[in-house]
Amino acid sequence: MNKRILQYENDARRILKALSSKQAKNDMPYPKMAYIYPTYQCSLHCKNCMYKDHIKECKKNKSLDMDLQLFRTILTDLSSLGVMNVELCGGGEPLEHGNINEIIEVVSEFRRNNRMDFGILTNGQSISRLNENTLKIILECFAYIRLSFSEQSSENIRLREEYFNNLSQLLEYKEKNKKLKAIIGSKLLLTSKNKDKLLETVSELLDLGVEHLKIKSIRSPDDEPSFEDLIEVEEELRSLKSEKSANDILQVDLGKTVYPAGFKCWINPLSVTIDPYGGIYICYNFHNDPENMMIGKYNKNNSLSDFWGKLEHVEKIRNINTELVCESDTSCNCRFVEYQNILEKISIEKNNLKHMGNDDCDIRNSLKLKRIDRFL
Ligand SMILES: C[S@@+](CC[C@H](N)C(=O)[O-])C[C@H]1O[C@@H](n2cnc3c(N)ncnc32)[C@H](O)[C@@H]1O
Ligand code: SF4
Ligand code: SF4
Repeated sequence: MNKRILQYENDARRILKALSSKQAKNDMPYPKMAYIYPTYQCSLHCKNCMYKDHIKECKKNKSLDMDLQLFRTILTDLSSLGVMNVELCGGGEPLEHGNINEIIEVVSEFRRNNRMDFGILTNGQSISRLNENTLKIILECFAYIRLSFSEQSSENIRLREEYFNNLSQLLEYKEKNKKLKAIIGSKLLLTSKNKDKLLETVSELLDLGVEHLKIKSIRSPDDEPSFEDLIEVEEELRSLKSEKSANDILQVDLGKTVYPAGFKCWINPLSVTIDPYGGIYICYNFHNDPENMMIGKYNKNNSLSDFWGKLEHVEKIRNINTELVCESDTSCNCRFVEYQNILEKISIEKNNLKHMGNDDCDIRNSLKLKRIDRFL
């Protein structure tokens, strides 16, 4: 389980206070993480892609790209507000941005001058087409590069080969340049149809030497894995993990965090999502209800602070239609809802602990330890 969440306890308190306040001014903390979508272009067209409605165009189309100057403005603003962690993802396919070399150079500049941390989530298919300098900067400047094994790559032999070749290329490059820092990882999605193939692919990826491997379940009305599949695959992955000594590499997160009916998401301000047109959204699942999830739009003269924590933002969080956005009002498979669940449990435990005297100190410590164990 995730130990990182423990550092957000204070932010969680501030968020809850801001959400219960009736004042126009509140102390909503700025997000810890910004997801930026550099483009809505993607040439793969996976059948279940969450963003398929945005990625309609088959031809290269620069109007789906984020303007380079806008990208720079956003990073300047985020860093001035202390938002220091940025993931380039999508949306579309970040490496298909028409000016990807320039985008990566801007990242390198903000890494160097502002000490911002960057990661990238890509389908990996364009890696062999990147120029050597861009590839070098990615491996030098990004904390991680994660290659999603797309539905298309799992179904098409040529794309599958390309994916593996590109991943090997990155791993070899890093092997030769030991000082490069980027963690090179992979991400797979379990569907109702790919159980056996997925286990084979996990094995191959571990043998190849990936440094991080994340397995999640697909969200799809037609192809979601059954509960029995989840149990079976989870079991198989557990034994693979010990067989290949991959405890620190393999991260399996197949299930959903379940809530009683009427669940309200309050954790979302830990992150912000910004699309190629500068649209600022409450969370990455905004595409299910874009109008109600958008809180503002960047242009060259404004700032996230013009929208963040303002009454309209707070109102939109209070009124998130979870049935639409999270595709259920009792569960979600996003990692933030898992954080919310953990933080709520911590808060309940702490309240219980408050009522204990000093004589209960040992119980207090052992409860804390138990709690941390559960997060590992
Ligand atoms: C929409 S993609 C955009 C970035 C890039 N093109 C890629 O595929 O990594 C971002 C992530 O969403 C995941 N994704 C896409 N459709 C999904 C779905 N229906 N359910 C769960 N994850 C999905 C992808 O596997 C990928 O890791
Ligand atoms: S590669 Fe990524 S963005 Fe492109 S269609 Fe597949 S999931 Fe969507
Ligand atoms: S639980 Fe739903 S609304 Fe909250 S961050 Fe996750 S996807 Fe967004």
